[in-house]
Amino acid sequence: MLDKILVVDDETSCRDSLRRLLEVWGYNVVSAGTGEKAMEMVHEHHPEAILTDLVMPGMSGIELVEKLRYEYPVPIIVMSGQGTIETAVEAIKLGATDFLEKPVEPGKLKILLEKMEETSELLAENRRLRGELRDRGAFGMLRGVSAPMKSVFLQIEKVAPSTLSVLIAGESGTGKELVARTLHDLSPRRRQEFVAVNCAAIPATLLESEIFGHERGAFTGATNRKIGCFEMAHRGTLFLDEIAEMDESLQAKLLRVLQEQKFRRLGGREVITADVRVVAATNRDPKKAIEEGRFREDLYYRLNVFNITVPPLRNRKEDIRMLATHFAEEYARKTGATVAGIDPAALVRMIHYPWPGNARELKNAVERATLLSAGATITLEHLPEDVIGDEPLDAPHLKLVEDTGLAPEEVKTGVTLPIGSSMEDAERSLITSTLEHTGGNKTQAAKILGVSLKTMHNKVKKYGL
Ligand SMILES: Nc1ncnc2c1ncn2[C@@H]1O[C@H](COP(=O)(O)OP(=O)(O)OP(=O)(O)O)[C@@H](O)[C@H]1O
Ligand SMILES: [Mg+2]
Repeated sequence: MLDKILVVDDETSCRDSLRRLLEVWGYNVVSAGTGEKAMEMVHEHHPEAILTDLVMPGMSGIELVEKLRYEYPVPIIVMSGQGTIETAVEAIKLGATDFLEKPVEPGKLKILLEKMEETSELLAENRRLRGELRDRGAFGMLRGVSAPMKSVFLQIEKVAPSTLSVLIAGESGTGKELVARTLHDLSPRRRQEFVAVNCAAIPATLLESEIFGHERGAFTGATNRKIGCFEMAHRGTLFLDEIAEMDESLQAKLLRVLQEQKFRRLGGREVITADVRVVAATNRDPKKAIEEGRFREDLYYRLNVFNITVPPLRNRKEDIRMLATHFAEEYARKTGATVAGIDPAALVRMIHYPWPGNARELKNAVERATLLSAGATITLEHLPEDVIGDEPLDAPHLKLVEDTGLAPEEVKTGVTLPIGSSMEDAERSLITSTLEHTGGNKTQAAKILGVSLKTMHNKVKKYGL
């Protein structure tokens, strides 16, 4: 049931007559005289529906609709005076639910309000579904169930609808670029370009023209006009990767452009205005990079309006299982391979390993393992040497059970023997279960048991394993 309605109109008389009408019908009404005020009221009073005028000084009804659609999705009715029907249609395209002609006819308003009840329920359902997905560890293309990743998801959701600059920090391979893409995909700019520039991969002499473009003849070799990334990202998102690797003088120029939202192509006279949302990333610690004189402090403050730090994978081991499965499935989909799942012993090692190359290293390892396993279950022997490691793991890894949500029987790698077993029985059992744990890999089993490979071969022969 709709309860609270926000009425937005710059004319006091319109606002008041609507308020009286709605109050007679039993609604709880709040009102605002400008779009800006309406944005404040929305966050303060949480109305369940909005009725807004289109033509207002300052933020127009259209702009209000556009902003609310992402920041606060509720049903909106736009009210249009004569000659603004086209604008009303545009508002509907941008997400308004419906429109009413002014002066408002009570009968029509009543019908629309009933329709809004349904829309309101639908929108609430959408919000609930998105939240549920997030709880299950999927946020756009990002996966993660750990508390730090869920907090990253919430931060993305919060900042995506705005035009604020965002600085993403995090070690190499943690998923910074994917975070940037997700930000773009959840923003009102998502139908426009996402343009990525890797400042570390392009020679300093070419980077300026890559970003701002150049006119023909701007420098030796500039045989044609080139449109830069800034222009290409107009109305979209520009992703400046490895920002701290950018030349100091170019950092200064970038700062100026960000402040003025205007620039010239190299060798050009025309002043170009671009509406660009900038997202930057660095795998350095930004504060340290500033101290070292790599990252201009003023540019840092301009970009760091909102900061998202993606934690290293070793600090969110709960994500490893989900990511490994996700990467295996994604690889299978891409290549037409099949995956039969990951053996618990392999998973335990993957969770144990610190992944200095973070998600990217995990992704590479899983893709290789998927290929090597050729449709069978991924076992230890399919993993890189580094991941398998050479120190034995203490069974039953209760901490892993806690950390990762693995079922205890999955990490139970211990051996139980009845009283009365001989030493030989014990040895045989121990070797058998260790070999099971390593997926039949004798070298690995020998390492775990602290014997030579030769001894291992002899025992295997002796017990006929
Ligand atoms: N949480 C995640 N969910 C799904 N895929 C992920 C996640 N994190 C990273 N990836 C994948 O891992 C790979 C590396 O991620 P990405 O390129 O975004 O890292 P990065 O932080 O930008 O690394 P670098 O600093 O080296 O540029 C990509 O293929 C990406 O799709
Ligand atoms: Mg990257």
